[in-house]
Amino acid sequence: MKVINSKISGVGYFVPDNVVKNSHLEKIMNTTDEWIRERTGIEERRWVNDQKLTTSLMGTYAAENAILDAGIQRDDIDFIIFSTLSPDYYFPGSGVLLQRNLKIKEIGALDVRNQCSGFIYGLSIADQYIKSGMYKNILVVGSEIHSGGLDKTPRGRAVSVIFGDGAGAAVISATNEDEGILSTHLHSEGKFAEELALIKPATTFWIDKIIDDENEDGSGYSPVMNGNFVFKNAVIRFEEVIFEALNYSNLKPEDISLLIPHQANLRISQFIQKRLGLDDDQVFNNIMKYGNTTAASIPIALKEAMDNKKLKKGDILCLAAFGSGFTWASALIKW
Ligand code: COA
Repeated sequence: MKVINSKISGVGYFVPDNVVKNSHLEKIMNTTDEWIRERTGIEERRWVNDQKLTTSLMGTYAAENAILDAGIQRDDIDFIIFSTLSPDYYFPGSGVLLQRNLKIKEIGALDVRNQCSGFIYGLSIADQYIKSGMYKNILVVGSEIHSGGLDKTPRGRAVSVIFGDGAGAAVISATNEDEGILSTHLHSEGKFAEELALIKPATTFWIDKIIDDENEDGSGYSPVMNGNFVFKNAVIRFEEVIFEALNYSNLKPEDISLLIPHQANLRISQFIQKRLGLDDDQVFNNIMKYGNTTAASIPIALKEAMDNKKLKKGDILCLAAFGSGFTWASALIKW
C-alpha cells in the first residue's frame, strides 16, 4: 500500500484595501509612529471600511485564490476548516458560511477557535484527515476582522495599534510523493486564558446578568492583553515548539530553509531568529504592512514568501505560532 502524505498544494490571501498608517492612529489614540514601530515593527495595517466585507467573505476570497493556485476545481474540495476569533456570528460558525459562499456541495465544515495558533491547528487537523485517507483536498482558512472590535480611543491604544484585518487560505492535498507535512505539534495552557482575551459578550456575561449588574461599566467588550506577560511567554514557547519540531525530524536550526513565525510582533520574530541563530533570509516577516492578523497571518505571509520566490522544492519550511489561550504550535514541512 502506498503511503499517503499531505502537502500544501495552493495558497491564497485577501486583505481589505483600506490602509491605516501609524500616522492616522496618532490622530485618534494618543500614540506615536515611533512608539509603534519601535515596540512592534508595524508601519501600517488594513482595517475594513466596507460594511459588506465580513470575516467569511474575506475567507472566501482567500479560499478562491488558494483553489486557483492549487489548480483544482472548487468541487474537488471535500472538507473545510475555518480558523477565526472574529466570526461573522456567535453561531453558526464561519465554515458553513464559506461553504455557502463557495457554492459547493454539502461537505463538512469545522470552525477552529485557537486564535493566533488557529491556522497551524487547522493544518494539523487537515494533515490527519488526509493521512488517514478520509479526504483528498481540504481548505484551511484563517480570516479575521479585528477592527470592528477594537477600542480606538486612547484607552485601547496598547492593544488596538497591533491588530489588522486579513484572510489567508491553503489547500492541503494528498500526495504519494516524499514531500509535505512532516509533523505538527500543538499545545495549550489555559491557566493564562484571561491574559489575552475578549471576555464579553459570552455566557459568562450573558445579557441578563449584564442588565442586572449595577456595577457593569462596559469594560471587557474589547480585547484585553497583558502585553509584557504575553511577550515573555511567547518567546519561550516559540523556541520550545520549533525545537520540538526539529528534534522530531532529527533536524537542526541550520536545516530550516524558511521560518514563518505567526506575525505577532517583529521584536518577537527577531528574538526567535537570534535564539535559533538564523540568518535574515531564513525568516520571513511582513507584520510591517499588515499588523497582527491572528489566524490569517501565517497563510498571508506564506503566499507572499512564495511570490517572492523564497521557497523551492525540497526546502524545509517551519511554521510556528503563539497566542491567546495560551496556545502555541509548530509545523514542519518538506516543500
Ligand atoms: N502608544 C504609546 N504608548 C503606549 C502605547 C501606545 N500604543 N501602548 C502602551 N503605551 C505606553 C504604556 O502606557 C506604558 O507607559 P508608562 O510606562 O508610562 O506606563 C509604556 O508605553 C510601556 O508599556 P508596556 O506595555 O510596558 O510596553 P511594552 O514594551 O511591553 O510593549 C507591547 C507593549 C504590547 C508592544 C508588547 O508588550 C508586546 O508586543 N507584547 C506581545 C503582544 C503580542 O504579541 N500579542 C499578540 C500575541 S499573538
